[in-house]
Amino acid sequence: MEIFLDTADISAIEKYKDFVDGVTTNPSILSRQKKKDVHDIVLKISRLVAGPVSVEVISGDFGGMVREGESLAKIHPNVCVKLPCTFDGLRACKTLSNKGIATNLTLCFSVPQAMMAAKCGATYVSPFIGRIDDIGQDGINLISDIVEVYGVYGFETKVLSASVRNINHFIQAAMAGTDAITVPEKVLEQVFTHPLTDIGLKKFMDDWNKSKGK
Ligand code: E4P
Repeated sequence: MEIFLDTADISAIEKYKDFVDGVTTNPSILSRQKKKDVHDIVLKISRLVAGPVSVEVISGDFGGMVREGESLAKIHPNVCVKLPCTFDGLRACKTLSNKGIATNLTLCFSVPQAMMAAKCGATYVSPFIGRIDDIGQDGINLISDIVEVYGVYGFETKVLSASVRNINHFIQAAMAGTDAITVPEKVLEQVFTHPLTDIGLKKFMDDWNKSKGK
């Protein structure tokens, strides 16, 4: 399972670069950066990680998305062009995929959207777990359903669980068979900690230090 960091924060990426397979961003994440030069930020991130760096187009129409996607892809070979699961986004996905450009179909909230992304040659499809939970539905069910349907038809598009808000989402998405997951720094931190590990380590050290005094 690929693990991506859902951030454009360079210090967070530097801290976790040995553990993550790539990075995902979106316009909201990039808008939180002090320096707004997307080209510079994307290049910096791409030089830090070995795998895909998802960067979303801003255009809302097919032509604009294709032009923007082509220009983003020129920044670095690891750039994966993020497109919305809309009619124009799916058309742009097909065009960019045919040109060999990696794509990540974002804002996916249904199995049919995920199926169209796969049929248009998307590299990744990003179903949003947290935002589905926010409207009182079950985001993890969507991950399981897409994984199942992709398995039935042998689609090659990878399921990238997104909008991950807590460690339980991480565990359940992994159990549902997601191919990839993107997590904010606050969730990734939790992957490395467990209270019983801390308690156990303290006890080992206390016992060892006590024995030295004897
Ligand atoms: C990443 O690809 C998504 O844009 C991101 O995970 C969305 O997360 P949010 O729903 O917490 O904003």
